[in-house]
Amino acid sequence: MRSFLAVFLGIVTALAATLLALPRSATVVAPATAPEAAPASAAPAVDPTLAGPPTPAQIARGARTYRTLCLACHLPDGKGMTGLVPPLAGADFMAADRTRTVQIVLKGLNAPITVNGVAYQGLMPGLENVLTDAQVADVLTYVFNSWGNTGEAFAPEHIAALREQWRALAPVVAPPANP
Ligand code: HEC
Repeated sequence: MRSFLAVFLGIVTALAATLLALPRSATVVAPATAPEAAPASAAPAVDPTLAGPPTPAQIARGARTYRTLCLACHLPDGKGMTGLVPPLAGADFMAADRTRTVQIVLKGLNAPITVNGVAYQGLMPGLENVLTDAQVADVLTYVFNSWGNTGEAFAPEHIAALREQWRALAPVVAPPANP
């Protein structure tokens, strides 16, 4: 019981720290729908986010960022909380579109989605002002190579290019408690 409480309080504290780190002034934007996975016909021949085999060092750096920023919601085993926070472990939604996954980490998500057959309508804050390009690349390389997931590495220069491409897109931010 004691250790459960400690873990629970740890999660709550980490979550609060994450939210406090977010910019206060950003506007609340709730896109009506989740970004669609690119239709197969429109997909580029080679996925521009593929950066070859991941290195143990990159995965280790990503694990640190995961513990600081993602674990509070998606949990240490990447399984999330059914119906509340979608899983990253074995997630069909994440695997279907690497570019969309980069967008979700940078801009957040507040739209109905279905992951492994379960419906979610939650709020993930955009982390573009919290994470560097290298940190986004590392944490995604970690989640794509953990809990049974396997995937190529993400490279900072690809994240930088996508960040630039989506500069005008407003991030999803948790609304302040008392507007
Ligand atoms: C404050 C809680 C929270 C934090 C912190 C958070 N997420 Fe999320 N994440 C969510 C929620 C809730 C959704 C679903 C949002 C929706 O339904 O619109 C989500 C969705 C996702 C998705 C797409 C759905 C899926 O499971 O395939 C990915 C990928 C993801 N998050 C990765 C991350 C990564 C990587 C981090 C850390 C850099 C992170 N999240 C931090 C709560 C969070």
